[in-house]
Amino acid sequence: MEYHIKNTPIEKQRAACSVVGIYESRQLSASAQHLDSISGGYLSKILATGDLEGKVGSTLMLHSVPNVLGERVLLVGLGKSDELNGKAYLDIISGVMNTLYAGGTASAALYLFDEIVSDCDINWKIEQAVRTAHAQRYLVGKLKSKHEPVGKHLKKLNLIVHTDTTQLAEAACRKALSIAEGVELAKDLGNLPGNVCTPTYLAKQAHKLAKAHDLKYEVLERKDMEKLGMGALLAVAKGSHEAPKFIVLQYNGGAHDSAPIVLVGKGITFDSGGISLKPGAEMDEMKYDMCGAASVLGTLQACISLKLPLNLVVLIPSCENMPDGLAVKPGDIVTSLSGQTIEILNTDAEGRLILCDALTYAERFKPELVIDVATLTGACVIALGHHASGLFSSHDTLAAELEQAGVAAQDRAWRMPLWDEYQSQLDSNFADIGNIGGRPGGSITAACFLSRFTKKYPWAHLDIAGTAWKSGKEKGGTGRPVPLLTHFLAARAAKQK
Ligand code: BES
Ligand code: MN
Ligand code: ZN
Repeated sequence: MEYHIKNTPIEKQRAACSVVGIYESRQLSASAQHLDSISGGYLSKILATGDLEGKVGSTLMLHSVPNVLGERVLLVGLGKSDELNGKAYLDIISGVMNTLYAGGTASAALYLFDEIVSDCDINWKIEQAVRTAHAQRYLVGKLKSKHEPVGKHLKKLNLIVHTDTTQLAEAACRKALSIAEGVELAKDLGNLPGNVCTPTYLAKQAHKLAKAHDLKYEVLERKDMEKLGMGALLAVAKGSHEAPKFIVLQYNGGAHDSAPIVLVGKGITFDSGGISLKPGAEMDEMKYDMCGAASVLGTLQACISLKLPLNLVVLIPSCENMPDGLAVKPGDIVTSLSGQTIEILNTDAEGRLILCDALTYAERFKPELVIDVATLTGACVIALGHHASGLFSSHDTLAAELEQAGVAAQDRAWRMPLWDEYQSQLDSNFADIGNIGGRPGGSITAACFLSRFTKKYPWAHLDIAGTAWKSGKEKGGTGRPVPLLTHFLAARAAKQK
């Protein structure tokens, strides 16, 4: 679909459908008032019928409104004017897009951006409108033998703003589209089943991205990892017949001598738990255990399309976690790439094992900072539910930047402690460190484990176990935290300039 920022007044609008807002108690928005006057009071007459009460996101389609060039006007409820906040706004856009996609409208113009949304500026409003519109036509069932595209008639969406905000709105629109497409890539990868989206498949997708955009691309195979001494990653990979892959992508949009930002994404393409086997219920959802990897690929794609002037390295340690005669066993001790020995007390705490070797590998890029993204712990879902990703960092400014990016992107993260007091839960009698720290503070001790491998650079960790996908009726990947990461990197790039 095409998205355009326009200033066209409603009487000159040629799109097939103009969308205007109505508050509760028949209170007209500014654009609705204008439409009412050019149509000779037509809207007031319709509202008097009581067919639209103005509840948030409710809609009423009108045809052949007097003195309007397009054949349709869509009225949308805005709720109470003093209660129009960001959440209500998102529900309004969602209601509009549902109605537009369900009908035969080929082009639409949204007259919704003049309304005051508490705490939200024009950038936010435009970005959210574009991202919502894009996300709402996402097709989950791509592997069904028959599927209908969502909203196939709608080809063009005009977002109407004042002339003085045109430039801001255009930039927001571009950013939104790049994010939306990055989110889509992450969702697609996440939704693919484990028998399709294997480590080899992820490497192929990374290769495709590299070829299309002239990125540096490298994959370390099992024997390369053996030579390097990635004993922790290899221990996890041992139980599977799928070949493990360690994917390295480099985007150089910045100055030659500027240190790169490294993004590390957990790429477990299926997590059965290994010998510490998971219970059967909902085990299918462990195909999503590569959503960290998917999100760093989606973010990379967004940064490329925004041509951000910075250097990025993406690292994806990827394998399956399976039980097998050769699989790693509880009690096994392995030596990580860092040289630290690890007692694997639970084979289901595998994410930290593949990540720790990637975090050590990151050192060779002399990074400005490193962020890892992982569906790491069920404990994080218990702590924060599904609305915020867990954010862990001992670097206060980096943590604050990520928190702010999450707020701006409507993809929030909540900072959790990483205090030294938790570290002793990882003590082992037999090795330098154990891979689990018991039930108390499970997402914190997982982060503490990673912190042992990140002493050489500023580092942050995002636990996305609760945010990367939805269960139940709406089961599917969310593409999070592509928006957060893209906002973070765009803000960084703007600062560097
Ligand atoms: N991939 C899981 C984490 C997970 C669990 C994500 C549920 C989303 C929903 C991870 O590898 C795992 O199994 N973690 C264990 C750690 C425990 C054994 C210390 C967990 O959270 O139960
Ligand atoms: Mn696991
Ligand atoms: Zn896992």
